[in-house]
Amino acid sequence: MKNALGQPQSLLLLGGSSEIGLATARRLVRARTRRVHLAGRPSPALSAAAEELTALGAQVSVHDFDAEAVETHETVLGKVFADGDIDVVLLAFGVLGDQRRDEQDPIAAAAVARVNYVGAVTSGLVCAQALRRQGHGSLVVLSSVAGERARSANFIYGSSKAGLDAFAQGLGDSLQGSGVQVMVVRPGFVRGRMTEGLTEAPMATTPDAVADAIMAGLRRGSETVWVPGALRVVMSGLRHLPRPVFRRLGV
Ligand SMILES: NC(=O)c1ccc[n+]([C@@H]2O[C@H](COP(=O)([O-])OP(=O)(O)OC[C@H]3O[C@@H](n4cnc5c(N)ncnc54)[C@H](OP(=O)(O)O)[C@@H]3O)[C@@H](O)[C@H]2O)c1
Repeated sequence: MKNALGQPQSLLLLGGSSEIGLATARRLVRARTRRVHLAGRPSPALSAAAEELTALGAQVSVHDFDAEAVETHETVLGKVFADGDIDVVLLAFGVLGDQRRDEQDPIAAAAVARVNYVGAVTSGLVCAQALRRQGHGSLVVLSSVAGERARSANFIYGSSKAGLDAFAQGLGDSLQGSGVQVMVVRPGFVRGRMTEGLTEAPMATTPDAVADAIMAGLRRGSETVWVPGALRVVMSGLRHLPRPVFRRLGV
């Protein structure tokens, strides 16, 4: 349960080594979150994340979680919730894929959809059911501006995020009145591991800036967060451009 100051006491990070997820976890722990569950595929990065958050003062548990292993989600996440209430679930796993390569390799393209969309549907539903039973909590979903309008340069990733975004919006609406809130976060280009070596898009941001925006959104109880905030206006314009005009932008 949140403490008397309304600060979350417990966090479940799905994608336990995510840069954005960890930047947010650090902020939450500094703001008094005591219990942290990191769910991810075993790796040195996941172990390092657990060590870092422990050193910051959190009680950290690590759970073996693969977004693609959808049949395991109920069991793995069920154990997390059996250990106590969770105030914030941050769904931060995702893969960018390699659009040009994946267009030639439909199986690899399907893996992007399986992780970003299918895995989020199962884990998101399992967490939502548990949060509903608790009667409180926030589910924060890392979507992307890429899901707002499909681009020829990354429509495989973009379409997976469009599905995830629609899923999260509908889930949030279905949880109205339950005490559970779903917050959809739509960052633009974030400088980091996922985008290493790519040409930077306009209005690029950082994992720390996304984490700050997530913290502000949690405080305000926002349903949608754009990072940077000005992207909301830019994307509402881009979203309605006629397709021939949009194509000529060459984005
Ligand atoms: N970076 C950007 O420009 C950007 C922009 C908008 C939205 N986003 C979204 O924000 C989220 C976090 O991204 P980030 O920048 O923090 O990237 P990141 O550091 O690369 O984190 C991605 C996370 O996803 C995990 N993951 C990948 N496949 C998985 C699987 N099958 N099962 C479980 N976990 C898996 C990775 O774990 P492993 O270490 O096991 O691979 C890692 O923890 C993603 O959903 C991303 O799509 C990112």
